[in-house]
Amino acid sequence: MPVRVLFVCLGNICRSPVAEGLFQQKVEAAGLGAEIEVDSAGTGGWHVGAPPDARMTATAARHGTDLSRLKARQLTRADLDHFSHVFVMDKANLHDTLYLDPDGDRSTQVRLFREFDPEPGDYQVPDPYYGGDDGFEQVYAMVDRTCDAILERLREAYAI
Ligand code: 4NP
Repeated sequence: MPVRVLFVCLGNICRSPVAEGLFQQKVEAAGLGAEIEVDSAGTGGWHVGAPPDARMTATAARHGTDLSRLKARQLTRADLDHFSHVFVMDKANLHDTLYLDPDGDRSTQVRLFREFDPEPGDYQVPDPYYGGDDGFEQVYAMVDRTCDAILERLREAYAI
């Protein structure tokens, strides 16, 4: 597929899975399932093979987004060669992702996800893992509107 999008967070059980689920849903709703590949990964390996956090899955399900079939995996150097666009959730993720290819120049390929948020705040998606339920709602809302903005940008850039 010409456009290959990867979302990255730390554990690949909260923020990047909800981005993957929402973005995939929007891609399919736009009829672009054959044009845009969507995936997610975590910079850390603690949760490899695990489904998304139950609180994130429940929040997404309340809004009509199914995360139940996703499984956590760890980001690799090969991902940087495969995906055309890598959107990371916070600045630690940005550092850890770029560090997989320390001699490369990947500053246009690897971007903070919330650079594209119409209300970008501090440009990072807060980690909801250790907080209360409203953290998951806030993450869902910011990921939802940012995914809309990213899809619009990609459609313009690739004329699809
Ligand atoms: P995520 O959240 O990066 O949004 O998937 C986290 C999940 C687990 C941990 C940290 C962040 N953890 O340390 O286990």
